[in-house]
Amino acid sequence: MTKTRTKKEPAHEPAHDAADEATYDAALVERIERALAERLDKTGYRHSLGTATMAQSLGTIYGVDAADCFVAGLLHDWDRCRTHKQLIKSAKKHGIKVTKVMRARPRLLHAHTGAAEVALAFPELEPQIIQAVKNHTVGSVPMSDLDKVVYIADMIEPGREFRKIQDFRERIGVDSLDDIFLRCYRQSLRHLIENDKVIHPNTFKVWNWLQLAMRDAAARDA
Ligand SMILES: [Fe+2]
Ligand SMILES: [Fe+2]
Repeated sequence: MTKTRTKKEPAHEPAHDAADEATYDAALVERIERALAERLDKTGYRHSLGTATMAQSLGTIYGVDAADCFVAGLLHDWDRCRTHKQLIKSAKKHGIKVTKVMRARPRLLHAHTGAAEVALAFPELEPQIIQAVKNHTVGSVPMSDLDKVVYIADMIEPGREFRKIQDFRERIGVDSLDDIFLRCYRQSLRHLIENDKVIHPNTFKVWNWLQLAMRDAAARDA
C-alpha cells in the first residue's frame, strides 16, 4: 500500500470529511515527478503538474480520492511526447489494436500506451489510476468519477487556454461533476467536428451514455 492518511486543510468546502484525505507516499510522488521531468518536454511537464493540481482540487470539491486524482493527473500524459511511430510500435508491443481510426490520429494511442507503460513503471499503483490514464482522451463506458476528474483537469488546468475557458473554470464547485464533465466532453466533440477530425467510435458511445444517463436522472427526479 503506497497511501497514507493525513489531515489536510481543504482549499474549498469539501464534499467529504477532510480527515479522510489520502496522500501517496512522498517518495513515490517524487519518483514519479523525476521520471516525468526526464520523459516529457518542459511544456508537457508543466501541463502534467497543472493537471495534477487541478485534479486534486476537483477531487477535494467533489469527494473523489484527492490523492488518486493528483497521481492520475500527474501521470495522464506519460506518453505525450512519443512520436507517432513510437506510439504505434508501443501499441503493438502491448497488444493494443491499431485501427484505421488510430492510424489516422496516432496521438490517440498515447492514453492507452501510456497506461500500459505506467502500470509497468509503477506496479504499486492502484488499478483506478491506470484506468484514468487510459480514459483521459476518448474515455469509455462507463467512466468513473476519477476518470471524469482527470479528463476535466486535463482540459482546464491553469496552463490551458481556449475561448471561454474561464466560463468552464467558474462552474467548478457550482455545477455537479457530471455536468462539468458533459460540458468538457461537448467542447472536445465540437472541436473535433469543427476541425474535420476523424472521431474515434467510442466517443459516440460515451456521448450517448452521458445523454441517456442525463435523461434517466431527469426521469428519476420528475
Ligand atoms: Fe493526453
Ligand atoms: Fe494532457
